[in-house]
Amino acid sequence: MVEWTEFERATIQNLFSKMDYDTVGQQSLARCLIVYPWTQRYFGNFGNLYNAAAIMGNPNVAAHGKLILHGLDRAVKNMDDIKATYAELSVLHSEKLKVDPDNFRLLADCMTVVVAAQQGAAFTPDVQAALQKFLSVVVSALGRQYH
Ligand code: HEM
Repeated sequence: MVEWTEFERATIQNLFSKMDYDTVGQQSLARCLIVYPWTQRYFGNFGNLYNAAAIMGNPNVAAHGKLILHGLDRAVKNMDDIKATYAELSVLHSEKLKVDPDNFRLLADCMTVVVAAQQGAAFTPDVQAALQKFLSVVVSALGRQYH
């Protein structure tokens, strides 16, 4: 089981309690689709992903980004059992959606960039370390069904 310090717990709870899921979700997924264009292949039914402007303005990207953030919220509320929390979602992404698990890391990194830009000076190295650790645990749990 992953051990969390009091600082890490407090930082994650604090970051997510103040987070605007609609904005962070939309910006993180859009950034992932723009920076790593091969990730677009999973979203063939999302309509126009032709260029960065189209991706930023695509309502399906916005809606799905928000859905992903709500998915992350489950890990925030279950920090001591993230693996079990994501057991079903891991099966879905591996067996049904056939998402390459490397992509979880790419999305997590895009989210870190979005949160850093929003937080500015408050995004200290300690805060970054706590967020990266949390996202790494999420990425590992989502990839669990793959190995
Ligand atoms: C932090 C990482 C991620 C989380 C928490 C997450 C969460 C979710 C959730 C909650 C759903 C909806 C499941 C349902 O309908 O029951 C979903 C669907 C999906 N996810 Fe993920 N996801 C993540 C990363 C990714 C990545 C990196 C990709 C591909 C690059 C991806 C591709 C998809 C696709 C294609 C669907 C189905 C979309 C549709 O409705 O057509 N996910 N994800």
